[in-house]
Amino acid sequence: MALKEVLLDELRDMYSAENQLVKALPKLAKGARDGVLKQLFKEHLEETEGQVLRLKEVFQILEEKPTGQHCSGMEGVVEEGADALEKDQEGASFDSGLIGAALRTEHYEIAGYHACIAMAKALGEAQIVSLLQENLAEEIAAAKKISAAAAPILKQSSKEPDFETEPKSGKEKYSAKKSKEDEKAAAPSLKKLATHSMSPVRWRRRVARKRRIMQQIG
Ligand SMILES: [Fe+2]
Ligand SMILES: [Fe+2]
Repeated sequence: MALKEVLLDELRDMYSAENQLVKALPKLAKGARDGVLKQLFKEHLEETEGQVLRLKEVFQILEEKPTGQHCSGMEGVVEEGADALEKDQEGASFDSGLIGAALRTEHYEIAGYHACIAMAKALGEAQIVSLLQENLAEEIAAAKKISAAAAPILKQSSKEPDFETEPKSGKEKYSAKKSKEDEKAAAPSLKKLATHSMSPVRWRRRVARKRRIMQQIG
């Protein structure tokens, strides 16, 4: 598959992701208890609508249609946001869950735009690069604003008392079961590390060393 085809796939993914967020962000805005957070979600919804339009422009330049691919990654991230909205938490602790979900969303988008921009640059598509960079800049700014708004909320949440949670729902039980399966699937690889008597500190040093070597080569 030529790079242009790969870029088209990535762009269609982003288009689907942004459209999913146009639907999801009003729910986060409605659910947020904190006024600043609520306003941030509302403002980012407006930006997101503009991002959909910029992506449409990109497809016009490429003379291709924007639909054709559903972003399952964003579907998962949005579902985690929906889970946070269903949490049996109060005040700042409830908002803390929304902050976690929102930051995952922004960073997922940031990664997607980084990939698209690199590909468009390699193809010499300057106009497309510039449009995508505008979207990327908004995502980075949104993540920064959410992190700034998060600081007092998380502080407040840390002071809130723990309370008895309701028995787990069917969905939460399923999620807990799946997390055990994830751990089991990773166990053989992790066991290999343990048999080589690699301590977490030694392992991190080894990864850092490899990274330095890769940077020197690249
Ligand atoms: Fe976006
Ligand atoms: Fe975003």
